[in-house]
Amino acid sequence: KKVNVAIVGATGAVGTKILEKLLERNFPMNSIKLLASKRSAGMEITANGQKFIVEETVPESFDGIDIAFFSAGGNISKMFVSEAVDRGAVVIDNTSAFRMTADIPLVVPEVNPEALKRHSGIIANPNCSTIQMVTALEPIRQKLGLSRVIVSTYQAVSGAGIEAIDELQKQSAEFESRATNEANLLPTGSGERFYPIAFNAIPQIDAFDTSGYTLEELKMINETKKIFENNKLQVSATCVRIPVVSGHSESIYFEIENDDTSVADIQALLENAPGIVLQDNPDKQSYPMALFAEGEDAVFVGRIRKDPDHPNGFHMWVVTDNLLKGAALNSVQIAECLINEKG
Ligand code: A2P
Repeated sequence: KKVNVAIVGATGAVGTKILEKLLERNFPMNSIKLLASKRSAGMEITANGQKFIVEETVPESFDGIDIAFFSAGGNISKMFVSEAVDRGAVVIDNTSAFRMTADIPLVVPEVNPEALKRHSGIIANPNCSTIQMVTALEPIRQKLGLSRVIVSTYQAVSGAGIEAIDELQKQSAEFESRATNEANLLPTGSGERFYPIAFNAIPQIDAFDTSGYTLEELKMINETKKIFENNKLQVSATCVRIPVVSGHSESIYFEIENDDTSVADIQALLENAPGIVLQDNPDKQSYPMALFAEGEDAVFVGRIRKDPDHPNGFHMWVVTDNLLKGAALNSVQIAECLINEKG
C-alpha cells in the first residue's frame, strides 16, 4: 500500500532532509505535500532530481494525508497536529511539543519499536542528542544493565535551524577582520543576550530551568528515562553548542550493573548492534568525528575505555549527523515501522 505524505517545515534544516530520506529510501508514497509558512508558498524545492512546490500550512492541508511529519517548531505542532490527526493522519512529530506526554510514544526504532503499538495518532521523535545516546547505550543496557549516565555534548549549530548555520558561516568569514561579530540568534531566541558561536563554545542550549539545567539538558534526562522505561536510571547532562555545522558529539560516562565486563566485551556488543558503526582503534588514531559523520546515517562510537577508579564505569565518544539519525532519518524509520506493521 502506498501512502499520502506531508512534511510541515519542509523548507527547514530537518524538513529538507526528511524529503531526501523518503526519496532515497524509496518510501512507498502516492503523493508528497511540502508545507511551510505563508512566506514560502510557491517556492520550488528540488530533491533527487524531482521538483516540488511548497504550500502554506492550513488545516485543510491535511485532508487525505496518511502520514504527516512535523518539523516547524513546537508552536506550529501545537497549532496543527490535532488538525492533522482529526483528518485521519498519523503524525510523526520532531518537536518537543508532545515528547513527554504520558500516552504518546517516544520512539527510536533500534531501541523501543514496540512502543509504537500504543500510539493513538501521534508519535514523538526524541531530541537529537537523546537519539544518538540511547542508540549507543541500548545494546549495553540490554546485556549488561545500566544504572547511571553522565553526558556532555558538543552540539552542531544546524540543530538550531538554517539561520544558525548562516550565522556561523557569516561570523567565521568576518572573524579575521572582526568586522562585526554580530550575534542575533544563539544560544536561544527566548533569551536576552546573544553570543557569537564562531570560534566559541556556548554552555547553553535552550532556556534555563529554575533547577540550573537548560531545557536541552532536561530533555536528555527525561526522554532517556521515558525511552528506557526506567525512572530510576540516574541521568545527568551538560549541553554545549560548538562551531560545527552538522554532527553532534557526546562524551558519555556510564555505569553498568554487570561486575565483570571488559572494554572488548562492550566493543563486541556495539560492533553487531543495529545502526551503529564502531570506530575504536587508538593505535590507528581511529575514532568518530563530526566532520566525517555529516551526511552519514550511522551512530559512530569510539574511545571506549574503563573508568580508572570505578569498576563498573566506562567512557565513550558518540557522534552522529544530528539532522539525519538525530532527526530526519529517525522520523522516516518510524514511518517505515508503521508501514511494515500494517503491511
Ligand atoms: P519557512 O521557511 O516558510 O519559514 P528551521 O528549523 O531550519 O529554522 O526551519 C523551520 C521550518 O518551520 C521552516 O520550514 C519554516 O518555514 C517552518 N515554519 C515556520 N513558521 C511556520 C508557520 N507559521 N507555518 C508553517 N511552517 C512554519
